[in-house]
Amino acid sequence: MVTTRDDSLIAPRVLSVPVTRSADGSTGGSLVVVSNREPYSHEWVGDAVADPDESDTRVTAATGGLTSALDPILRSRGGTWVAWASGGADMAVADDGEVGVPPDEERYTLRRVPLSESAVEGYYDGYANQVLWPLCHEDTGRIWAAPSFWTQYRAVNERFAEAVVDVTEADQRVWFQDYHLALAPRRVREARPDATLHHFWHIPWPAPGVFAHCPHGGDVLDGLLACDAVGFHTAEYAAEFCRTADATFPDATVDVDSGVVRRDGHETRAVANPLGIEADGVRRRAGAADTDAVRRDVLGDALPDPSIPLVLGVERLDYTKGILERFAALEHLWETHPERRGTFTYVQKASRTRESIPAYSDYRAAVHDAVDRLAERFGTDDWRPVVLTERRLDRDTLAGLYRAADVALVTPHRDGMNLVAHEYPVACVDGEGVLVLSELAGAATTLDGALTVNPHDVEAIAGAIDRALGLDDDERRARLDRLCATVDDLAGDGWVERQFDAEERA
Ligand code: F6P
Repeated sequence: MVTTRDDSLIAPRVLSVPVTRSADGSTGGSLVVVSNREPYSHEWVGDAVADPDESDTRVTAATGGLTSALDPILRSRGGTWVAWASGGADMAVADDGEVGVPPDEERYTLRRVPLSESAVEGYYDGYANQVLWPLCHEDTGRIWAAPSFWTQYRAVNERFAEAVVDVTEADQRVWFQDYHLALAPRRVREARPDATLHHFWHIPWPAPGVFAHCPHGGDVLDGLLACDAVGFHTAEYAAEFCRTADATFPDATVDVDSGVVRRDGHETRAVANPLGIEADGVRRRAGAADTDAVRRDVLGDALPDPSIPLVLGVERLDYTKGILERFAALEHLWETHPERRGTFTYVQKASRTRESIPAYSDYRAAVHDAVDRLAERFGTDDWRPVVLTERRLDRDTLAGLYRAADVALVTPHRDGMNLVAHEYPVACVDGEGVLVLSELAGAATTLDGALTVNPHDVEAIAGAIDRALGLDDDERRARLDRLCATVDDLAGDGWVERQFDAEERA
């Protein structure tokens, strides 16, 4: 069934002539990357409102997987990155919304898209994170689609599309990133019929029956099908995308095996293209870490015995991450195996996230309650069963923390890929470390050597923690070797090449 688009809220605009720059002045392999988050943001230092002369700006580089993968590509190829101007001083330091980055080298252009508070509320807090996020994580009960969410999502996608058309030269590829920008490709295609458009969907793609819950599914899919290639972390997500196109558009011709969707004379290729990490950098940082100092820094006086093993979880405080089930598993383990009490400490490194959304603030409160409950129930004068830290850790400290941990638990209900599952094994440079991994994380399809669990099965998670702590040396090392080999297979810039190869095939 084809859903019609109501364009009344998206005023068509004449999109202007491109004015793009690449690092060497040519357009060669340069490209235009488009994402919600920006790779560099500027904030005021001091009180810019009270005393503009006394204020200055500070630039922060983003550290997520998306930026780590794409920043080096743009540094070497040149081009433009289009992103939301989320930093307080972003527009003040930019010239017509543009600034050269990285700050000291200026290898490519960052084009910033300023958004009003209500736009961010509707587009980011609203449609992206209360409709598409729960939809793609197949948690449909959490979908909330207030009318203003859709209005703003469309308007913001339009703003991004205008910026993209403005900066893109005829021979540059455009690469959209993630679920915030599903509609923008269609608008760019309308303005630039010959453009080469790519998208990468960093989160899972749901089964067609689940996608049917999306109140504007036809428009979302139509936007993505304006691309020449859409990348996913796993073959399953790519296949589900094709099946969803088939179920949504009876006029489309879909070949699930080859990942090709043909509609309205245009062909889109769905590709399985798992994103890896910069493994050597993680190894180097972990190798340089003083793990005793990191333990003292992160755990403070919570860890009187420096030899006690650590079990670690690292994630945003997101309800998809399975943190509460993990606490239930620890409770089950300490209840049914009292001899395990006092033998390890669980460290939860948690990052606060999306807290203006009730589901997230509620989840954070529930996590804190669970930590208190476990402390009350099992804690002693000499042992804190669980340590929760919400501190922002720099990459060196995080690598050191990975290395210090004997076991890592990565047990999301569903996860596009999960880069912690990749980073932890290569950070275990001493050859010690066991990964317990959800069989429903994208990472489970590419990594070999983890102890896999169903993330809802509390008893199984408890059993896996127990097993991980007791693995003999040979098995532990053999598993870690396999994990590292599979992480290394995906490391490097093959991700970009694989995505662009799909376009060549199309
Ligand atoms: O994992 C999906 C994702 O959107 C990533 O692309 C992003 O790095 C992460 O979630 C963080 O989300 P947010 O931008 O909402 O903080």
